[in-house]
Amino acid sequence: MLLSLVLSAVTVSGAATLAARADAGDTACTTITSSLGDAQVAISPLNASYIESRHDYWNARQSKYHPSCVVYPKSSQDVSVAIRAIRASGSRFAIKAGGHSPNNFFSSVDRGVLIDFKSMTAKAYDSSTTLATYEPGSNWGQLYSFYQQYGRTVMGGRLSGVGTGLALGGYLAPQYGMACDSFKELEVVLPNGTITTASATSNSDLFFGLRGGGGNAFGIVTRYTVQSQPIGKFYAGTLVYVLDHSEAVLEAVRDFISYNTDPKASVMATYETLTTPDVLLNLDEVIVVFLVYDGADPGTAFRNFTQIPRLLDTSKPNTTYTEVADMPIPYTAELSRADNVFRIGAHQIEGEGGRQRPRELYERYAAWADTHKGLYVYVAINFYPVARSMTDASRARGGNAMQMPDGPWFWVNYILATPPGLLPDVYDKIQASFRAMVEATPSAPELPLFLNEAAVDQRPLATFPTYRRLQQIKRQYDPDGFFAYKTGGWTFD
Ligand SMILES: Cc1cc2nc3c(=O)[nH]c(=O)nc-3n(C[C@H](O)[C@H](O)[C@H](O)COP(=O)(O)OP(=O)(O)OC[C@H]3O[C@@H](n4cnc5c(N)ncnc54)[C@H](O)[C@@H]3O)c2cc1C
Ligand SMILES: *[C@@H]1O[C@H](CO)[C@@H](O)[C@H](O)[C@H]1NC(C)=O
Ligand SMILES: *[C@@H]1O[C@H](CO)[C@@H](O)[C@H](O)[C@H]1NC(C)=O
Ligand SMILES: *[C@@H]1O[C@H](CO)[C@@H](O)[C@H](O)[C@H]1NC(C)=O
Ligand SMILES: *[C@@H]1O[C@H](CO)[C@@H](O)[C@H](O)[C@H]1NC(C)=O
Repeated sequence: MLLSLVLSAVTVSGAATLAARADAGDTACTTITSSLGDAQVAISPLNASYIESRHDYWNARQSKYHPSCVVYPKSSQDVSVAIRAIRASGSRFAIKAGGHSPNNFFSSVDRGVLIDFKSMTAKAYDSSTTLATYEPGSNWGQLYSFYQQYGRTVMGGRLSGVGTGLALGGYLAPQYGMACDSFKELEVVLPNGTITTASATSNSDLFFGLRGGGGNAFGIVTRYTVQSQPIGKFYAGTLVYVLDHSEAVLEAVRDFISYNTDPKASVMATYETLTTPDVLLNLDEVIVVFLVYDGADPGTAFRNFTQIPRLLDTSKPNTTYTEVADMPIPYTAELSRADNVFRIGAHQIEGEGGRQRPRELYERYAAWADTHKGLYVYVAINFYPVARSMTDASRARGGNAMQMPDGPWFWVNYILATPPGLLPDVYDKIQASFRAMVEATPSAPELPLFLNEAAVDQRPLATFPTYRRLQQIKRQYDPDGFFAYKTGGWTFD
């Protein structure tokens, strides 16, 4: 593995040197190196830091590209220096925190500057205000274990390996709203290199855009100051079911979305299908349900799930939040690295057809998985309940760019992992077919699509009721379209 990486790096370095001369990326890298020094800019594709930054993406397709250099800023000043140099050279660039964006070029770049936050990992806690402050370079596992010593946590992702870019798009906790609802103040490097802060009272429009409007659009966040929350022990675990019980689990999911009113109870249900049966279990489909209860005793909240016969059930009280983020095993996210894409849907559970919807979605998914065997490594469908307590908590904290309508409703996430090295037309065909399967059940037009798990063509921002305001904020902070044209990301037109 390592050998093949090194060999491809050698080939690339040869090709890059030939074509390099007039390259804007090289110009930017030279300028940045003269300001920040060699220790913070990896230019050689053989450099170990360069190889790691280039390899470390959840969607392996983001690793195909060859940045002109990788910059490791240590402060917002360094980021500003880099952005000014990139702008002056006309180079492309990308901003990378945890590297889990499933979309190409959202955190990778071909022949341009990759800004990798790996060296910006400061974190602090102020017990007098209960505010937590962190730089963007840590992953959630590192942040959760840091704040645990104070009996606190910050709102972030469900899995430890995912990075802080997630907070800019949301994530949900039924008690506290979305991760972006906890923002108090953000330090931001604007597209023109100016370092500023955004909060309810300073650049409040920028603050609005960064609360749920996604990364790399309005500027680069170099420090997050957020409201922390008290954290104790959890009742939590992973339940695994076999296909025979898929119907019963779907009913439990449906009822949990509709009826659960306990804001301390969360459920995420995943149906995962492998192209060939797993060697150990001899099964090609498993259902994995994650249960998390903020407290020792979930009461009856999960009874509908625990009544169904399980293959495995690890749920227990006395689980720390760090352990929750490592369920079912530490760094699960990293194990699923492949040629991955996400798609998202948003659906009502009440009203016409609502109660049938989870089943309808699952059946379409299962039929697709069945007829496309061999063309994927695995596919999955995940149900995310959006509880009324969640949308209430979000609103109580001032709301976010999604202005989520009252729960209950749900998001449904789909993952498609394709084998490496598919021919482009085969790859395009399977993506188109997967997309058609998802679109066959249209999302409810009044619900926002979850930006963190949307494919680029789904244009999630356009589904937000605040879209016009976001477009204005974009025009104000990125007036000449520097970010719009020179890095990947959501479009605003
Ligand atoms: C296995 C897995 C589990 C996931 N679980 C969850 C979950 O529980 N909840 C959830 O909401 N989402 C989840 N996601 C989706 C996740 O939120 C997105 O993939 C998110 O983009 C990950 O952020 P990152 O920092 O790891 O990725 P990156 O690819 O590094 O960043 C994501 C995007 O944000 C931009 N960005 C990052 N940092 C900054 C910054 N400081 N300033 C400006 N722009 C920035 C990047 O340029 C990029 O476009 C999951 C994804 C995966 C792959
Ligand atoms: C690789 O790049 C990093 C970041 O610029 C630098 O600190 C390190 O010294 C480089 N390693 C070698 C062996 O040159
Ligand atoms: C469990 O399911 C029943 C219907 O079978 C429903 O009445 C009840 O509210 C559900 N409980 C939860 C917490 O989902
Ligand atoms: C909870 O876990 C801690 C260690 O994580 C252990 O010391 C303690 O005895 C456990 N308490 C109960 C009630 O199981
Ligand atoms: C940078 O952009 C901000 C927001 O658009 C603007 O207010 C500021 O004047 C700009 N600064 C410079 C030096 O152009």
